[in-house]
Amino acid sequence: MSSSIQIAVVGSGYVGLVAAVCFAEMGHQVICVDNDQRKVDALRAGDTLIHEEHLPELLGRYRNTKIKFMTDLSEATRECNAIFIAVGTPQSETGDADLSYVEAVACEIARSLTKYTVIVEKSTVPVYTNEWIRRAMERNGVARHLFDVVSNPEFLREGTAVADFLHPDRIVVGADSERAAAMLSAIYKPLTEGTYYTTPGAIAGSCNEHAVPPLLLTSTKSAEIIKHASNAFLALKISFINAVSNLCEATDANVQQVALGLGLDSRIGPKFLRPGIGYGGSCFPKDVAAFRSVADQLGIDFNLLAEVERINVSQKARFVRKVRAALWTLRGKKLGVLGLAFKGETDDIRDSPAIELVKMLMAEGCSIVAFDPAAMSRTKEVVPESRQMSYADNAYAAADDCDALLILTDWSEFKDLDLDRLNKVMRYPIVIDGRNMFDPAIMSEAKFTYISIGRPTAYPVRDAVPEVAAV
Ligand code: UGA
Repeated sequence: MSSSIQIAVVGSGYVGLVAAVCFAEMGHQVICVDNDQRKVDALRAGDTLIHEEHLPELLGRYRNTKIKFMTDLSEATRECNAIFIAVGTPQSETGDADLSYVEAVACEIARSLTKYTVIVEKSTVPVYTNEWIRRAMERNGVARHLFDVVSNPEFLREGTAVADFLHPDRIVVGADSERAAAMLSAIYKPLTEGTYYTTPGAIAGSCNEHAVPPLLLTSTKSAEIIKHASNAFLALKISFINAVSNLCEATDANVQQVALGLGLDSRIGPKFLRPGIGYGGSCFPKDVAAFRSVADQLGIDFNLLAEVERINVSQKARFVRKVRAALWTLRGKKLGVLGLAFKGETDDIRDSPAIELVKMLMAEGCSIVAFDPAAMSRTKEVVPESRQMSYADNAYAAADDCDALLILTDWSEFKDLDLDRLNKVMRYPIVIDGRNMFDPAIMSEAKFTYISIGRPTAYPVRDAVPEVAAV
């Protein structure tokens, strides 16, 4: 494997922590810095803080060897050659990204910098952030030859974060200096040259020594725009298929067939064409708003993004109408809910469409019994147990005696539910699936009324009527 580089990663959220353990896995020495002492203590003790495949394993492997956790950014700055900034960039009231954490980190680095260091933006940031970091460094007295600022956006998804990091579709490096580009190329060499994939115990994924990820070198501004444009485009694909699914519902067509037919065109591709209750999470809603705000500030007409957001919001109201249409009235109805996280295989509930729907249905007077394999304790903090809201230990308990069962998060384990058992515990066997998890024909066989997104409603098959002998 290539030579080891001393890397600091500032911020131990999703992107920072995953980047830190993956850099260690790639052979580098890593210092992970966070100003939250409790987080640092937990990480030192081996607690990953988030539910993410491979993370406990990698943290266990490197926690006292190649990766150190600390709160002291000055010490990390003195020891490292590259500092990745992976702190939060939350949405401000005006929709644009709040960059105050990024600025604070840049100023702190500036105070301790004594040798050439590459500062890398890893957080999702709007175009021009790179220039602002450079200005902040200079204003704090750092000589220009002592640093470069590079943009290296991250494309990992929650739930598959470690595998995505180590098996990326592409690595984007926005650098305006050759020296900085060379440092980033050296950091990613184990992936781009494929040596990582031949290491015993390497995390498996789509890349191997013969199919390595490309490293795309761009200007810093292009790299910043690539990140925002990628998330906005993916959100657009989802809103597009959601709008098409509404058209399918109005015509009794089947959106699954339509998405298949669309996705087989290699120019369109099959991914991110799953209709549902709208996109959520900590990235798409915030990043689409931030990208729109960037366009507004630059006087660019990008109303397409407002439409993407509008469709996304209306998809939830549409789902509530679906529930009402199935149950006639909502007040006093008992609904089982499967899934609270913003998508399956994660405990993250930030901007979760499932939770928004739970709140909307509670406001309509429904009572909810919810189950999620990982996100219940987090949800209890925002929707506490009450007369209208309770939490079940498993899917069958959530469905018990309910008027309808709603599927709001695409946890893969829901696919393995025992449909007979589910049917027997429900008061009325009505399933309203916001994620199209089941085949309507199978639900019909299992004697459910099955309502999904953009597909014709399936009704319970009738038991064969015994032939009556002619008299
Ligand atoms: C997203 C991007 O996919 C990552 O590439 C990016 O790095 C990340 O944001 C980020 O900027 O940090 P993530 O938020 O983890 O990743 O989740 P996705 O898998 O993209 O799903 C986002 C939302 O879209 C979820 O609510 C999901 O249920 C929904 N979705 C996704 C659909 O409704 N339909 C689809 O076909 C795909």
